[in-house]
Amino acid sequence: MTALPGTVHVAAAPVDLAAAAAARIVELSRDRERFSIAVSGGSTPRFLFEALASSAFRGAVDWGRWHVFFADERAVPPDDENSNYRLVHDALLSRVSVPDAQVHRMRGEAADLDAAAAAYSSLLESELGTPPRLDLLLLGLGTNGHTASLFPGTRALDVDDAWATRGRADYQPYDRITMTFPTINAATHVAVLVAGADKAPALRGVAAGTVPAARVRPKGELTWYLDGAAAGEAGIAGS
Ligand code: 6PG
Repeated sequence: MTALPGTVHVAAAPVDLAAAAAARIVELSRDRERFSIAVSGGSTPRFLFEALASSAFRGAVDWGRWHVFFADERAVPPDDENSNYRLVHDALLSRVSVPDAQVHRMRGEAADLDAAAAAYSSLLESELGTPPRLDLLLLGLGTNGHTASLFPGTRALDVDDAWATRGRADYQPYDRITMTFPTINAATHVAVLVAGADKAPALRGVAAGTVPAARVRPKGELTWYLDGAAAGEAGIAGS
């Protein structure tokens, strides 16, 4: 049996996983005057964003209290099909009423990505304090065990003097901006969404401490949302 750190929630299919995570987000945001959330890209969160924007959940959230940040961004303009901002915009933000001034995207289109990462680091600190304490951080898990844009063997993994830095992926778009582990681990709640049997080796790597995502060890609550295929293949039971 593979054991992950934190709490494990197993749902049958990706849409069920999204509904479970959406219900938890509604609950977490309900009592907050200001709710700071950071989102990731990838295919798994799309279901979650769509669930939040659906009639089942949309009316249960006070969107005016949300402050939206990004765990990572690809080095493309915000209207590019590979942009994480575009994904979140199209699936969620265009359908709900978070004020524009409360959506803080990473400038993936910047000519100088180091400067854009440094600017995001400063923004995190000015919006959320030192260390920046997100109410909720949503992460994904790559098949190679990366999370956010913290890829195996890259220098971004060891950056401990900035809240955001430049990342380097092993698939296109290669250049990234990413939150660092000090930011991830300062969050009050971290939820990792993982769907598909192909994620099983990465999940086993997390359990064994051999992949970047094993370094997600927040001071606050850590919850894994797995679909049945990922959990079954990796030999993980819900807790
Ligand atoms: C990105 C992500 C990345 C993602 C994982 C999992 O911009 O690509 O933030 O870390 O969460 O690669 O992606 P999937 O959910 O598509 O498998």
